[in-house]
Amino acid sequence: MIDSHAHINDEKLYTNYKEIINNAKLAGVNKIVIPGWNVESSKLAIKIAHEFEGVYAAVGVHAQNVSDETLDSIKTIEELAKDPKVVCIGEIGIDYHYTKDDKDIQIEFFKRQLDLAVKLNLPCEIHLRDATGDFMDIIRDYVKVNGVFKNKPIMHSFSESKEIMEELIRYGFYISLSGPVTFKNARVQKEVASVVPVDKLLTETDSPYMAPTPLRGTMNEPKNIPYILEEISNLKNMDKFELERIIDNNFNIVFNVGD
Ligand code: NI
Repeated sequence: MIDSHAHINDEKLYTNYKEIINNAKLAGVNKIVIPGWNVESSKLAIKIAHEFEGVYAAVGVHAQNVSDETLDSIKTIEELAKDPKVVCIGEIGIDYHYTKDDKDIQIEFFKRQLDLAVKLNLPCEIHLRDATGDFMDIIRDYVKVNGVFKNKPIMHSFSESKEIMEELIRYGFYISLSGPVTFKNARVQKEVASVVPVDKLLTETDSPYMAPTPLRGTMNEPKNIPYILEEISNLKNMDKFELERIIDNNFNIVFNVGD
């Protein structure tokens, strides 16, 4: 199994990271991407990735951390992306949930890092919350000018509608599903899971956040992937091991890593 997005560089998990990664492997979760949210956490993701086989890093500045950084940080992110353990730019994105006051700078960081991912031909992990309109405008403009994305962008912890999912897949995106797909009242995520094409699907925990049912409210870890995979296989009415095999293969394709 695979976890496309786990913040093992978060202080809540980093204090115990060796045990957390070993427990993931014991649970059968053999490949993990650790995303950064600013320069420091991106560096830490790389450091951890170098200590384990099957563990990789994503480097980037998150929407909610644009105030920690200047646009020069994107040059640093580009330098960090040369590390052989870096397989992705992320996490990047737009989030107006807590504030729109920094809307322009969020968009600037997002566009520049999206361009960087395209330039380096690396996938990117995108966080989107309460900003669907602005996000889709940026993506549709990009596609109008450049054609569909070839660098395999990933919508992390996808929580948008089925229609948005279908449009993004037409543009070359992948969809990563997380703990909320297991929540009883997550109607939209369950609908998306039931119809998303399996060859465009990834699983993630978004650790330490959003632990799946029945572990809600506890600190999330990559070892919890089986709960998410099981729920998706039920929603798709598909054999769990067949789904696992396809998603593992998707991970190798998206992040360009072998077995
Ligand atoms: Ni995240």
